[in-house]
Amino acid sequence: MSAIKDRDAFASTLGAFAATVGSAVGLGNIWKFPYLTGSNGGAAFVLTYLLAVALVGIPIMVVEHVIGRRMRLNAVHAYERVVPGQKFWSAIGWAGLAAAILIMAFYTDVAGWVFAYVFKSFGAFFMGTKLTPETFGALAGGTWEPLFWQLAVLALTTGIIAAGVSKGIEKVTKTLMPLLFILLIICDIRALTLPGASAGVAYLFKPDLSKITATVLLSALGLAFFKLSLGMGTMTTYGSYLPNATRIVPNATRVALTDTAISLLAGLAIFPAVFAFGGTPAGGPGLLFNTIPLIFSQMPLGGLFTALFFCLTAIATIGAMVSLIEVPVAWAIERGHLKRPVAAALTGAVMFALGILATLSQNPLMANVKVFGKNFFDLFDFVSSNVLLPVGGLAIALVGGWLISKKDFTEEMNKGYATEPWHGRILFAFIKFLAPVLILLILLNSLGVIKLA
Ligand code: TRP
Repeated sequence: MSAIKDRDAFASTLGAFAATVGSAVGLGNIWKFPYLTGSNGGAAFVLTYLLAVALVGIPIMVVEHVIGRRMRLNAVHAYERVVPGQKFWSAIGWAGLAAAILIMAFYTDVAGWVFAYVFKSFGAFFMGTKLTPETFGALAGGTWEPLFWQLAVLALTTGIIAAGVSKGIEKVTKTLMPLLFILLIICDIRALTLPGASAGVAYLFKPDLSKITATVLLSALGLAFFKLSLGMGTMTTYGSYLPNATRIVPNATRVALTDTAISLLAGLAIFPAVFAFGGTPAGGPGLLFNTIPLIFSQMPLGGLFTALFFCLTAIATIGAMVSLIEVPVAWAIERGHLKRPVAAALTGAVMFALGILATLSQNPLMANVKVFGKNFFDLFDFVSSNVLLPVGGLAIALVGGWLISKKDFTEEMNKGYATEPWHGRILFAFIKFLAPVLILLILLNSLGVIKLA
């Protein structure tokens, strides 16, 4: 359907898989998942999250990949043209561009801290010093230091984007994902061989079903959205680069399973150590930067493991940021006929402009600058995660399940099979009914229209 010749794409199914996992894996696994598990009571939350991934996450990822590959266009143009005569669905793409920029504004701030901590933790290890909560306070509340790191991560990731889809995104994620996995396993072995580690394992895997409240249910669904990069066009854009030979449903399922495994492995590196050293699992958002160095430093070679942990977190952020930048870049290339490096540089510049606001909003000088009672960092997080992603996800489910012809949809979904696979109908029913209903509940709850808990 696309009129664009020589459009860049992923070169292989394996490469497409690596890039998609690279997008899903990020701060969501290593920071958000453990911290939400800690503040929502452990295994009951984990169990609920697994259900959310299976019932909503995988179906929505399938829709995005189907629409993306069918249209072979950026998110704005894909949704503008996917339902004949209903151009207004391009709003999904526009909201996606806005969400990409808003998410990147605070994501690059946090990723900048992570990169700074890679250097700080190696420095501390070799100098025999310790990272304290004051170290983090000075970094996050500073001016030039966090801005420097934010600019550095943006330069790195826009550089990857500038290199192209197969030569940039695909190549980098194919190298980084195995490395991330190995580092994570090393941290897991260290944590799981600590005396008293089993309490941490039980905390993650022995659910107390009475803890599954409506709040737990809904925050697990929200996390599934953020985790799998859904609802704003990232997976639509990546779908547009999928090889025709790739079977969409198994690929999406593998991506979701891998992403979930990485989250669980991150939990297994963190909670056993937390329990072994008498910490509390409910560390909140400071878990990554305050609790980890503090807890890890109490174990033999802890300084080194702290450094390795921040390395793997830094690696994880790269594929996620790249996938957020690619959404506007794909549009700028196809709409504005810009060269890829130019589109990447412009997108990076816009993201940095907004990112400065997010970063400096943690500075004491801006302590009083609030919009709707939130500083810019929290505002960008709230508007993107709690408004734009759920609205986008719901609209995407409706377009995929109700507005595209079912024949076209299932044909694209089942490409690569000679006859309809057994899961075809089940998945379509999830897309049409189950997923939109569940998303609607999250949305109404996050807007405060209904109160489920
Ligand atoms: N999934 C990534 C993470 O867990 C973040 C991310 C990348 C994202 N692309 C996205 C979140 C698109 C929402 C939408 O860190």
